[in-house]
Amino acid sequence: MRNILVTGGAGFIGSNFIHYILKREPQVFIVNLDALTYAGSLENLKDLPDPQRHTFVHGNICDRPLVDGILLKYHIDTIVHFAAESHVDRSILGPQDFVQTNILGTFTLLEAARAFWLERKTKTGMPKEHFRFHHISTDEVFGSLTAEDPPFSETTPYQPNSPYAASKAASDHLVRAYGHTYGLPITISNCSNNYGPYQFPEKLIPLVILNALEGKPLPVYGDGGQIRDWLYVEDHCEAIWLILRHGAIGETYNIGGNNQPTNLRVVQTLCDILDELQPHSTHTPHSKLIHFVADRPGHDRRYAMDTTKIHVKLGWRPKETLESGLVKTVKWYLTHPEWVEAIRNQTEYQAWLRRNYGHREPTPKGGME
Ligand code: NAD
Ligand code: TYD
Repeated sequence: MRNILVTGGAGFIGSNFIHYILKREPQVFIVNLDALTYAGSLENLKDLPDPQRHTFVHGNICDRPLVDGILLKYHIDTIVHFAAESHVDRSILGPQDFVQTNILGTFTLLEAARAFWLERKTKTGMPKEHFRFHHISTDEVFGSLTAEDPPFSETTPYQPNSPYAASKAASDHLVRAYGHTYGLPITISNCSNNYGPYQFPEKLIPLVILNALEGKPLPVYGDGGQIRDWLYVEDHCEAIWLILRHGAIGETYNIGGNNQPTNLRVVQTLCDILDELQPHSTHTPHSKLIHFVADRPGHDRRYAMDTTKIHVKLGWRPKETLESGLVKTVKWYLTHPEWVEAIRNQTEYQAWLRRNYGHREPTPKGGME
């Protein structure tokens, strides 16, 4: 594996993956195809180690001639497909882009990959193992768990609840079908909620950190009792890299952090960390900024991942605990004010904050407005 096409590499997880690979794998070259939507930023790629092994292409995964050209020009042998619309709240406000990018974009990539792979196979007799299409997906395709349910495994039936989850589920099915029907060498990973450096501050953890630093309200949806299986992003990158090298073709792998706090506990922990790191802040104690707001429509109550398969087959387990990962994350945001400033100045971000939070007046206690 030498020439990797990363899609969505200017986003949160994609950029972390590029940092991870360039730091550790001196033989690997990366082509990064990204449309630079509101969620993508070249700020995430400013400090790449060994940047001459990274080529950025500004473009859309739905652009078939562009994708064909990249595969050919850069002799791509591995595709790691991160590009997506990724935020549940946005998918509720406007699902169209999710269908376009997550379903049609994945379809376009698969078609391009299939044509390119078939031609190379026919012309050069290249074995299956020398090409890979790896699809990055989410635990949200499995739906919602009750407190008593066992965690999601690779055989849990799909039951996506939000437009985001439904669009990711559709893309997972397409990828699997291309493996089954055409023999395209695919792998899929379904991962739980990530957090860490370079995450766009519309998602819970960076939003809370940055709001708390400014003394703004920390919005907790509903009663704050929802549960996510938080994973530090570098642990996710390590799992993907293991799957690319040692995962079995056609298989899917669940990835998760093996910790399931309530949202309220996550927010409270972030407040405690900030109190400790910023004892002289006028906003200490930060927990006084917590505000319960109206719940998300159709809000999934609980996600949890059974990671036995990736542990037993590939020896992976997360390195960070929630506590250690959150401390690292808060410190990263504190020490990268220029990144925060650049992202905050994006006009689209401002507009989204106004649209999404402008009309939601915080309520003193949990529940609906
Ligand atoms: P993100 O929103 O931070 O980044 C997405 C990137 O894709 C952006 O750089 C954006 O510009 C790019 N993009 C969007 N549409 C595109 C298009 N049509 N063509 C080319 N590029 C396009 O997302 P993320 O949080 O980094 O998530 C990456 C992947 O991981 C997604 O597939 C997501 O479903 C999946 N995932 C995310 C999480 C999480 O907690 N963030 C958890 C599990 C799985
Ligand atoms: P989010 O980071 O949007 O990820 P996802 O919806 O993919 O799980 O949200 C994580 C959890 O935090 C989810 O249960 C919704 C909740 N949440 C809040 O309570 N307040 C917020 O401001 C946000 C953005 C999310």
